[in-house]
Amino acid sequence: MDIKICTGRSCKEKFSRYMMQRVERDRDFYNWKQDVSCSECLCLGACEKAPNVNIDGEIHSYMNGVKLSGKILQLKK
Ligand code: FES
Repeated sequence: MDIKICTGRSCKEKFSRYMMQRVERDRDFYNWKQDVSCSECLCLGACEKAPNVNIDGEIHSYMNGVKLSGKILQLKK
């Protein structure tokens, strides 16, 4: 699973960097280092729905740390 968290201005203002930290912690906690990659990316072109996350090519809007963790858990089942 490839996760790209937007750290463009609109998303950063809505705590996208916290989501980055949360995913990093989850990768350690759940031992996902092998199959979940996470990186920052520039604006995904959906600023009005910030913060946005691209998971395997699909954009997920209005995310937060808890929602993102839940989404990853759901997709990994
Ligand atoms: S800054 Fe994140 S979608 Fe534009």
